[in-house]
Amino acid sequence: MVAGGGSAPDVILATEGLAIEFKGFRAVDGVSLRVKRGTIHALIGPNGAGKTTCFNLLTKFLTPTEGTITYKGRDITRMKPADVARLGLVRSFQISAVFPHLTACENVRIALQKKRGDSFDFWRSERVLSALDEEALRLLDAVGLAGFAELPAAELSYGRKRALEIATTLALDPEMLLLDEPMAGMGREDVDRIAALIRSVAKDRTILMVEHNLSVVASLSDFITVLARGKVLAEGDYATVSKDPRVIEAYIGVGHG
Ligand SMILES: Nc1ncnc2c1ncn2[C@@H]1O[C@H](COP(=O)(O)OP(=O)(O)O)[C@@H](O)[C@H]1O
Ligand SMILES: [Mg+2]
Repeated sequence: MVAGGGSAPDVILATEGLAIEFKGFRAVDGVSLRVKRGTIHALIGPNGAGKTTCFNLLTKFLTPTEGTITYKGRDITRMKPADVARLGLVRSFQISAVFPHLTACENVRIALQKKRGDSFDFWRSERVLSALDEEALRLLDAVGLAGFAELPAAELSYGRKRALEIATTLALDPEMLLLDEPMAGMGREDVDRIAALIRSVAKDRTILMVEHNLSVVASLSDFITVLARGKVLAEGDYATVSKDPRVIEAYIGVGHG
């Protein structure tokens, strides 16, 4: 039902029969995904559908029992998360990975240093540090945090912490970004700001996100894969999947996930 194989040139990330079993229970059960380069692709589905598990397989936090993951034509199924990140496939950091006592600017600078793999001696130089600060400020500006650069991360609102998290991820200059519920726990204003941010970040990148907020999914996604009981239930644009009777039934059956 899906056009094009995992090696089609416009497909950046593909899975083939991806499955993981927990004590006999198949939380992800033969999922074949095709994520096209330059798109925003959403993974949705009711509670317990296997979204988080699938995400953890894609980001290499879990190892599949069966199936393969291909990124830019390369089999990454058994690769370590750090090696996958080096290929340009990066999972957004969790807020818990933001250093609370450091300023927003320092947090982004650390991510920039990580990307460069700078040695201690090298990045100690004042000249290098101030160049990094300049770049960090540019990234903070891009996520709407220009006025918060000198504030300790701990003092930022929840929505601004998420924006900082995205800035630290962008500092790694990923080609493809995996976002785990970017809108979770956010108020309306933050949701609008982060949605605009994701849209602008997506201009020259590919994004795969798990997201519960269906109005966000509707407005951001080019393509949607609906999971239910560990399997792909439906795929297509929002108009297509939202009127699919199987999708409607799956959501009504267990409530919104
Ligand atoms: N480590 C685990 N051990 C056993 N069962 C798990 C584990 N992780 C997830 N599951 C089960 O797999 C199913 C899918 O979970 P999950 O991926 O979290 O769903 P979703 O994110 O779509 O709500 C659920 O039934 C859940 O209880
Ligand atoms: Mg989940």
